[in-house]
This record gives sequence, structure tokens and C-alpha cells, in this order.
Amino acid sequence: MSEIGIYRQLSAKEAVASLHLELWRHTMLGRIGCTVRRISRRQMWIGIMSLLIFCAILSPGFFLDWRFYPAAWRLMFGPRSRSLTGRTFEPSPARLARGRYLVEGILGCFRCHSERDWDTLGAPPLPGKKGAGYDYAAQGNPRLIAPNITPDSDTGAGSWTDDMLARSIREGVGHDGRALFPAMWYASFRHLSDEDVASVVVYVRSIPAVHHPLPQSNLNLIEKLTAAYLPEPITSPVPEPDQSERVKRGAYLATLADCAGCHTSHYHPKAPVHEKPFGGGNLIAGPIHNVMSPNITFDPSGISYYTDDIFISVMRTGKIGARSLDPVMPWGVYRNLSDEDRCCQRVVGLAWPRRSQHPGVSSHGAHTP
Ligand code: HEC
Ligand code: HEC
Repeated sequence: MSEIGIYRQLSAKEAVASLHLELWRHTMLGRIGCTVRRISRRQMWIGIMSLLIFCAILSPGFFLDWRFYPAAWRLMFGPRSRSLTGRTFEPSPARLARGRYLVEGILGCFRCHSERDWDTLGAPPLPGKKGAGYDYAAQGNPRLIAPNITPDSDTGAGSWTDDMLARSIREGVGHDGRALFPAMWYASFRHLSDEDVASVVVYVRSIPAVHHPLPQSNLNLIEKLTAAYLPEPITSPVPEPDQSERVKRGAYLATLADCAGCHTSHYHPKAPVHEKPFGGGNLIAGPIHNVMSPNITFDPSGISYYTDDIFISVMRTGKIGARSLDPVMPWGVYRNLSDEDRCCQRVVGLAWPRRSQHPGVSSHGAHTP
């Protein structure tokens, strides 16, 4: 019987209804609807479960960060890293002097890798504790340890090879192949030239060995994921920086010291945040207070009134007029820079675009966000 024949046997109302049904069936939704009616209960449950599993897999990316997936992969299979080489860095008086200048100055290794005397101006390492490690539990973080990097072979770096040290410093992979938490500032240190990292290793090996056993960091899952994701191997030579102009020399120093890391709000080593570099506004947890970093650009809301002389004096004394800087600002190590290098750093400020952000107030005692 033709389709017209079917409709002829229906009332006019029924005919219209069945025509609508016929049209609906041809739409996409209709097709799905018809299929749904045909599937079994079991198939329906399989569908719902798959949908739930799919949502569960997507939710960490959606709610946390899409970088969760590469991070989880790295956590399971190890960080991106290169294999260790047998290279050694020959000690020489020039390397020792350059290493000392960098480590005790702009790089400030011992401000983290030592217990410090916070009551003394500039907060130097406690006597006999230089490089012997630091347990961040003293600062309210029981999961983080800056290891003993003195040449002690039982509890320090004595048995680690030169390349293990170089890889930890610039590439964020520890002597044992683990990803280091970025509280170790390898993201800035990766800009060290090959010769400079050699000098750093030579100097670190020359400090007195201190026997000071410490456990390794015991990071939580989120910290482990963060640590696992970030390391990137250095596989090509890093040449000497171009030091011909003061701005370039200053840029090298400011990058190594990561001035912008503390003096930029919501900074993250890999985030494209560089909208307000040096504009201040980062609340930094210190051992005594949390301190807001000030705007150090040459904007009127920053330090436009600074001259080279003021800058050098602040870096050398930790004081602006009668006001003392909180020791969270590592002036205690920057004071070891040469005046020429201090000036270079200041010149960098001029190279950045003028920005206004925070008026440069420090808020001692503020809470970590
Ligand atoms: C801002 C703090 C900070 C600074 C500055 C810093 N470190 Fe670290 N460093 C750490 C922390 C914290 C760890 C441990 C990270 C972890 O366990 O995941 C670490 C780890 C290391 C390791 C890895 C040790 C291992 O177990 O293999 C070495 C080597 C090291 N640092 C050397 C240095 C040197 C050399 C410098 C200076 C160029 C330096 N650090 C500067 C905080 C710092
Ligand atoms: C660990 C974080 C940290 C790093 C790294 C850091 N600073 Fe600071 N800096 C601070 C904090 C916090 C203050 C505010 C201290 C206070 O108000 O007592 C400050 C204050 C200053 C001031 C004083 C501004 C004023 O109020 O007049 C200058 C200048 C300065 N920093 C320059 C630098 C330079 C240049 C570098 C890099 C070589 C640098 N800082 C690296 C945290 C940091």
C-alpha cells in the first residue's frame, strides 16, 4: 500500500500527527531518539559509564589546568632530561674567583641552601652552616628541603659528579634523576653560560664540607606534578653572554637573579605574564613576614627618583634613607656585586617600558594569598 493509502485511512488530525512524526524522524534528534528506543538497558549503562569516565578524565584539565596531562605523563615516566656525561670542570683560579662572585652574589645559592641568621643585617648563613642545607619546615613548609650541597660525601654533594651538579643547576634534574621543585631557581640559572656554570660548580666544590644529614623533599601530588612538568634539557652549547653594552650585561644579571620573578605579580617561570615585569605586587612569604614586592620600574609609582648612587647604596646597605629593606629582598647577597654590575642592573630598569602597578608599599605581616 502506498503511503498516501495509509494516510487516507486516518482522520485528518491523525494524518497531520503522523506526518509530523515522519518529519521528526528525519531530523538528527529524531534519528537519535529512534536509536535510543532500540538500544538495550545494558548498552545504555555502558553509554552512561563511558560518559562519566570521559568527564572524569577531562575534569582535572578543565578545573585545574590542561597542562595536567603532560605533567601526569612526566610524573609517571620521568622528567624531560638528557643523560649525564662524564665531563669535569677543571678548577682554575679564574673559575674559582668567577664562581665565588656569582654564587655569593647574584645567584645567592646559600640564601636557600643554608640556615640563616635572620637577626643579623643581610641575614648571612649561620656560622659553619654555609651550603649545608635548609629545611623549609622552619618557614611553615614541611615538604621542602634545600639539600646539603657542600662537598661532604656522606650527606652532601661530595659523591655527585660535576655534570650532576651542572644539570641540577641549569636543567632542574637532581643527581638521582628526579625533577626538582622550582623553588630551586633553575629556570633562571639555565641562562648561565657553559663557562659560568663550570665556575659555579668549581666554587661550590671548594667550600668547607659540612656533615649535615637531611631527608629529601617530600612534595605533595600537585607539587610533584608541577616539578615533573617543568624541566627542559639543555642540549646545545650556551655561549658567553654579550657584555658589550651595559643594558645587555644588566639583562644577563637580572635574568640570573630573577629580579622580575619577585618583582612581578602572579609570576610563573613559564607563564607568558610579562605584561608588567618589575611592576611589583607579588606577596612573598618570608621567614619573618610576608612582604609585598614594590614596583622597581622608572614609572612615577616605582623608583623614578633613584639615581645610580641611590641604587648602589640600597643594594649595599639594604636601606633607603632610614628605612631598612626586609631580608626577603636578597640585598645581603647583591651587596657582593661590583659597583659596575650594580649599575648595569639599574640600567635594565630603563630598558623596560614604563608601567604603573603597585605604588611600592611593603605590607609586613600580610597573609599569603
Ligand atoms: C630560592 C632558593 C634556592 C636557590 C637560590 C638555589 N637553590 Fe638549589 N635547591 C633549592 C631547593 C628547595 C632544592 C630542592 C628541590 C627539590 O627537592 O625538589 C634545591 C636543589 C638543588 C640541587 C639538587 C640536589 C640533588 O638532590 O640532586 C642542587 C645541586 C642545587 N640546588 C644547587 C644550587 C646552586 C649551586 C645554587 C646557586 C646557583 C642554588 N642551588 C640556588 C633551593 C634553591
Ligand atoms: C626573593 C624575592 C626578591 C628578589 C629575587 C629580588 N627582590 Fe627586590 N625586593 C623584594 C621585596 C620583598 C622588596 C621590598 C622589601 C621591603 O619593602 O622591605 C624588595 C625591594 C627592592 C628595592 C627597594 C625599592 C624601594 O622600595 O625603594 C629595590 C631597588 C629592589 N628590590 C631591586 C631588586 C633587584 C634589582 C633585584 C634583582 C637583582 C631584586 N630586587 C630581586 C624581593 C625581591
